[in-house]
Amino acid sequence: MKAVINTIYESKLATLKDKIAVLSAPVQLTIVTVGEDPASKVYVRNKIRLFDELGLTCNHITLAEETTTQSDLDEIAANAEHAILFQLPLPNGLEAPDLPASVDVDGFGSEALGQLVLGQNSILPCTVQATIDIIASHFGENNFAGLKVAVVGRSNIVGKPLAIELINRQSTVSSFNSRSDLESVDWKRYDVVVVATGAYGVLESTQFFEGQLIIDVGINRVDGKLVGDVKHNLEIEPMAAITPVPGGVGRLTCLHVLGNAVKLAECAQG
Ligand code: GUN
Repeated sequence: MKAVINTIYESKLATLKDKIAVLSAPVQLTIVTVGEDPASKVYVRNKIRLFDELGLTCNHITLAEETTTQSDLDEIAANAEHAILFQLPLPNGLEAPDLPASVDVDGFGSEALGQLVLGQNSILPCTVQATIDIIASHFGENNFAGLKVAVVGRSNIVGKPLAIELINRQSTVSSFNSRSDLESVDWKRYDVVVVATGAYGVLESTQFFEGQLIIDVGINRVDGKLVGDVKHNLEIEPMAAITPVPGGVGRLTCLHVLGNAVKLAECAQG
């Protein structure tokens, strides 16, 4: 699977470089972080590194957990003139402001999500795009219709928007969450299983069939090691095509932050 991810990554990156080369509007991104969440630090470092590599401007606003208020965040959002994101999770009950679609590089705001439900969106949440890329490379870009996809997880940033995008593409979508009776599900009935719960071990690799596409969106730290949501049983697992963690969905997600920033710059250019 690593080779598949690399091929998708290289081809998307090349396309983006071509687009950036002909843009007259600058591609810019502002990332707002509050506090010291260790996982957020890794994600943000990767995003900044990618922008740096391409000589693009990435402005990182770091705010202290103790002193930051909701109105500080709302003010930054109100003044945003180009692509911006508030890295999640935010501490202390702070909420990411509801950004207008014109600057919403994550596609998490109500305007972008409303457009997604109506099938009129131009920006898709980055992890959703990464998941769609992997399914497209496995089954073909035009073969989503009728595909049986299980989506495990109902977060606003992955599970829910992914289920909607798949419905837009006429897949047959089954949605599961932590209150579903996961034990009794026959996962072999699905062409694709996407696991996005943030809980290590919700599903085990032994539950899948040889060649089945399993997209592991989770990133967890277990015994100091980065792992996904799927527990691997290397001795007896069938050779399902399970995306690796790290170096799987996350690698492509980062690229789509850039892709969405390019789209917003294209829209601003008119
Ligand atoms: N935290 C984990 N994933 C994401 C993401 O895609 N965007 C933001 N803003 N925060 C995240």
